[in-house]
Amino acid sequence: MNRDIASIRRDYQLASLDEASSAVHPMDQFEHWWEEAIASNIDEVNAFVLSTIKEDGAPASRVVLLKNYTPEGFIFFTNYESDKANEITANPAVAINFFWKELERQVRITGTVKKVNKEESEQYFHSRPIGSQVGAWSSPQSKVIPNREYLEQIVQANMEKYKEGIIPLPPHWGGYIVHPTSIEFWQGRSSRLHDRLKYSLQENHSWTKVRLAP
Ligand SMILES: Cc1cc2nc3c(=O)[nH]c(=O)nc-3n(C[C@H](O)[C@H](O)[C@H](O)COP(=O)(O)O)c2cc1C
Repeated sequence: MNRDIASIRRDYQLASLDEASSAVHPMDQFEHWWEEAIASNIDEVNAFVLSTIKEDGAPASRVVLLKNYTPEGFIFFTNYESDKANEITANPAVAINFFWKELERQVRITGTVKKVNKEESEQYFHSRPIGSQVGAWSSPQSKVIPNREYLEQIVQANMEKYKEGIIPLPPHWGGYIVHPTSIEFWQGRSSRLHDRLKYSLQENHSWTKVRLAP
């Protein structure tokens, strides 16, 4: 077996990032990079890693999908009884990470999470395909289940139950918004001398911007 993992490397040469051309507000900079990411047709561009802290202090990470962003933060949807939700309830501090490899970019965000209001969850829930709506009713996310058939039987029963009319928003499902307290924009550069600009939220609600060594 050829397993020469150590020799896998890529030299980043696509772009640069500097203090003068980057935005004053990090959400404007995010918007700028987001639009470039969309224009670049990045696969699963809205997928990001969400890290939470468990009650014993250990970290936990998983991928979720960005469903909106506003000047206030980054919105995703999930099961409010899942492990991640329980971790957020106990400790709302999170880190999120976007990696857009086609643009040789990473965005690292820390912040605190809150539930979005029910109207926003309802609006998004009803925009989802029917199968996903039934799935949200059917999956006890993060819980141990006996086998695949168990899940499929619940799905079948819910398909029958909700075959007519509007499927209501499950009480255990909805959105969260991550309010950022720091956002780092990382642009890969040649010879590992990458550009890193980190914005930090100040007590007076303004943002500072510093360059970090790669
Ligand atoms: C590409 C991708 C997108 C995902 N999007 C979501 C999502 O938007 N919401 C969600 O609850 N889980 C999503 N998942 C599943 C999560 O990674 C995770 O398995 C699930 O939320 C349970 O996590 P938890 O047990 O830590 O709560 C996604 C997984 C992948 C690989």
